[in-house]
Amino acid sequence: MRLAVNVDHIATLRNARNEGTPDPLEAALLAEQSGASGIVCHLREDRRHIRDNDLERLRESITTKLDLEMAMTPEMQLIALETRPELVTLVPEKREELTTEGGFAIKAHYARLAEFIKPLRQDGIGVSMFIEPEQEAIELSLAAGANMVELHTGLYSLCTSDEARAKELDRIRSAARFAKSAGLDVVAGHGLTVLNIAPFREISEIEEVSIGHAIMARAILIGLPAAIREILDLIKR
Ligand code: PXP
Repeated sequence: MRLAVNVDHIATLRNARNEGTPDPLEAALLAEQSGASGIVCHLREDRRHIRDNDLERLRESITTKLDLEMAMTPEMQLIALETRPELVTLVPEKREELTTEGGFAIKAHYARLAEFIKPLRQDGIGVSMFIEPEQEAIELSLAAGANMVELHTGLYSLCTSDEARAKELDRIRSAARFAKSAGLDVVAGHGLTVLNIAPFREISEIEEVSIGHAIMARAILIGLPAAIREILDLIKR
């Protein structure tokens, strides 16, 4: 199973001071050096974390695979066609949300979806739909021309009992099998952490997981002792 690393949070931290550091590109290159198979970023309508220039620099410099998460808007379609990421992941987007909440409402947008996806696919860009692990959403993704689905694992990550977790994992497993047998590539993401990722090893249909928050949160804690030692070395010298 491959790992795609989402660098949005690095941009959030950078934007807190607006002085260029930490740089999402530097984080992306470190992720690649550390074994990530792809870099994910979400260019939001309000540019609250990743900005257009970040996307351009990521496109120029990363050597694995760029997955551009975006809303289904004409502006984003144009940006994707200009940037040519290896993959576009269509996500729902609400201005007021803290993170992507729930899967793409594929039924509601279905009438315009095929038309939206077509020029991307014609340009050789892969298109993944971030959907709930449900058969109907998978069928509609396929019918609209997507070649991949990303199964939303948010509900799984929020389960508080073993029983609920096992049930949700079953739902994800069945959806992954169904999607794969329908000819789609399958990835999974949202809310995955060192504590809940292990069962995904057994779902062979899921080829990749996409993780952001947990890696960045852990990086801060794991990295904090080294960052403090570095400054102490300098002030004590
Ligand atoms: N996949 C998609 C489509 C997302 O929108 C997100 C959140 O940005 C993730 C994966 C990663 O979720 P998390 O940050 O919880 O690991």
